[in-house]
Amino acid sequence: MNPVWKVLITARGAQAAGEQAQRLLRDAGCEIVFPPKFGPLMADELVEALSGTDAVLASLDGYSESVLSSPAASRLKIIARWGVGYDSVDVPAATRNGIVVTYTPGLLDDAVADYTFALLLALARRVHEVHSTMQRGEWKNAWGDDIAGKTLGIIGLGRIGKAVARRASGFSMRVLAHTAHPDAANKSVEFVSLERLLAESDFVSLHAALTPASRGMIGEAQLRQMKRTAYLINTGRGALLDEAALVRALKENWIAGAALDVFTTEPLPVNSALRSAPNLLLSPHQSSYARGTGERVSLSAAQAIVDLMNGKKPRNVLNAEVFESSQLRAALVS
Ligand code: DGY
Repeated sequence: MNPVWKVLITARGAQAAGEQAQRLLRDAGCEIVFPPKFGPLMADELVEALSGTDAVLASLDGYSESVLSSPAASRLKIIARWGVGYDSVDVPAATRNGIVVTYTPGLLDDAVADYTFALLLALARRVHEVHSTMQRGEWKNAWGDDIAGKTLGIIGLGRIGKAVARRASGFSMRVLAHTAHPDAANKSVEFVSLERLLAESDFVSLHAALTPASRGMIGEAQLRQMKRTAYLINTGRGALLDEAALVRALKENWIAGAALDVFTTEPLPVNSALRSAPNLLLSPHQSSYARGTGERVSLSAAQAIVDLMNGKKPRNVLNAEVFESSQLRAALVS
């Protein structure tokens, strides 16, 4: 019989939409632990919560070298990311410490693409603004912008970017894409330089993975290249964008508006200048919070933990080389 694994759940989604996942973990004999608050946890909160745990079903907490090599993390064998982005995990440091890192690719593309479109439509047609005026007892129309026939520029054409492009074609939009690996066989979008995308798009949507190269890729110069009538949508990662430059762009009308679901610091600080910037629609990193999606993502992350606990290599491992390392902390059944 395996020793009981203590599993820390920092991903809020795995609580709210994690009934099956939690059952899977408990049925496999795991002990589930919830931290005092859900993630992303700060480094000190994370170190405290990690003490004595074997596995974490992880939010966007910062798994840095110092966190991973801290004595509190000495039992940690797997970080199972609830989601597809893993910029918050120092994967090479996890490998050096013998910790397996998994993620859940392909499960939340549609949910994120739907939400991106929800933001695009709300922004263009000012849905959130008229909702507020109705709540104040007024009856006042707000003129918005057409969507059909307009140009959508997608930055980062991975699985989620492609799902956004499919929706755009259903809305009769022209689609431009700027991406690290353009695929000439893909005729549904036009691959262009970043400069051309910014200059020609009516809507710009960010879907690039956050890497050292993409960090801050949309700053003052790029915002100034956009049309004054254009909108920016970010459901990717907050740090792709220079948020201070966006606040200036909105206050000085360099662009027409923006919608942000992701932020450099999450939760967004109460006193952030973004909270009062004009023509800005804000939401709390919830593009993947659709119930069925949440259940599937939670289950996939939990399955990875159970597989490793039972000596099996999980699916969707980000650092497969860890299995060749003498540092590997989990015991595989050969
Ligand atoms: C992801 O998939 O990384 C989302 O941002 C949810 O964490």
